[in-house]
Amino acid sequence: MAEKAWGGRFSEPTNEQVELFTESVSFDARLAAVDVQGSQAHAKMLAHVGLISSDERDNICSALDEILETIQQGKMEYRPSLEDIHMHIESALIEKLGDTGRKLHTGRSRNDQVSTDIKLYIRNAIDEVDALLEELQRAFVSRGDQDLDIILPGYTHLQRAQPVNAVHYWLAYAEKFQRDRDRLADCRARLNQSPLGAAALAGTTLPIDRDFTSKELGFTAPAANSLDISSDRDYLAEFTSALSLIAVHLSGWAEEWILWCTTEFGFLTLSDAYTTGSSIMPQKKNPDVLELIRGKSARVIASAQQLFVLMKGLPMAYNRDLQEDKLAAFTAFDVVKSCLGLAPSIVINATLNRDRINSRIEEGFLDATALMEYLIRKQVPMRTGHGIVGNLVALCESKKCRLQDLTVEELQQAAPQIEEDVYEILGASNAVAALTSFGSGGHEPVKHQLKLWQDRFA
Ligand code: ARG
Repeated sequence: MAEKAWGGRFSEPTNEQVELFTESVSFDARLAAVDVQGSQAHAKMLAHVGLISSDERDNICSALDEILETIQQGKMEYRPSLEDIHMHIESALIEKLGDTGRKLHTGRSRNDQVSTDIKLYIRNAIDEVDALLEELQRAFVSRGDQDLDIILPGYTHLQRAQPVNAVHYWLAYAEKFQRDRDRLADCRARLNQSPLGAAALAGTTLPIDRDFTSKELGFTAPAANSLDISSDRDYLAEFTSALSLIAVHLSGWAEEWILWCTTEFGFLTLSDAYTTGSSIMPQKKNPDVLELIRGKSARVIASAQQLFVLMKGLPMAYNRDLQEDKLAAFTAFDVVKSCLGLAPSIVINATLNRDRINSRIEEGFLDATALMEYLIRKQVPMRTGHGIVGNLVALCESKKCRLQDLTVEELQQAAPQIEEDVYEILGASNAVAALTSFGSGGHEPVKHQLKLWQDRFA
């Protein structure tokens, strides 16, 4: 019991199985650096308000640096009896400094300490993910110049719909990942209030200065309610939700490219370096990395769910259940980080098979909507035009031809308003060139957006 920081009121040692069951050092050791950062700020504050001397502050701060070094060199021996990384560091401090070390936890509880540590850790994690997302956006934007002359079939319901400039596809992902970055920034701004000094749940009778530690740790202000602080993990639910959307975007992209790599589609060839083979079928080149990006997204989404379920039945304030929060948050972060680590290279090194795409671009009536809009310009009401083009498509299907193969007489039979100039909008390349509205997939609007993205990343 002597070893336990909280052993005073106990007369029996903790059951060993309980120690193994309750420990968290096996997964919270990664908080060591932020724990030391938080403790050093706390020690400075304690000296600032006169609860410890400036010598004690200096000794604590340098001993904490040494302890962190020991941990980072892998020389700290973790013991389940010391529960978590926080107790390991404090116990090492006491071992080094005796009574001075015993003063560090003044006016603080592990409850506000742990929440502070997690917030510091997640703040860094958000910055890391943000930088990775920017790299991925840059990868998509970097394909702009090389793919600008390619027309891709756009799909809805995975059925051919309208043609778009290939770069429109790339920039669509840049937009999605921008919203992900914005969401992370929102999450970061909201979490950036300091829990430190809330102590266990009620605050403290000691004259601590929460503004001091808040500033010292780069928070915008101390959070206002100690009960709320002690129980709050909203920021982890938000963080993992933001990561879940990233995972959803990555997974959708992976799925699309897996399809595009099939013999059936044949739109895309992945670089050999980012694919794998089969142990039995010699011809195989499999998109395993994309499949795993799609597969691993499940873990991220599950982590967000795990946090919601973890939190939903908890009364105020801290409950030990919350220790499980880190498993979910770290899993989501690790998975997203590893997927984002690979995605940019896959994007940069993939080849769009333009011949294959071009050879089938006139299939699927990608110009049907352009023809309907031609009729609208000739004063045909939209619904009437829709019906006329629908009939023409049915005619083409029976004749096994394309809209541009119909003679002007055949077209005029369906709508007398049609003139020779109709052939200027028929065919996929005419249809895509005719797209001019803001944000559309036509060449000009796409070039405009591409320039904005390129300027942004210049
Ligand atoms: N390892 C624990 C956690 O992460 C530390 C908090 C323990 N607090 C307590 N009141 N027992 O939640």
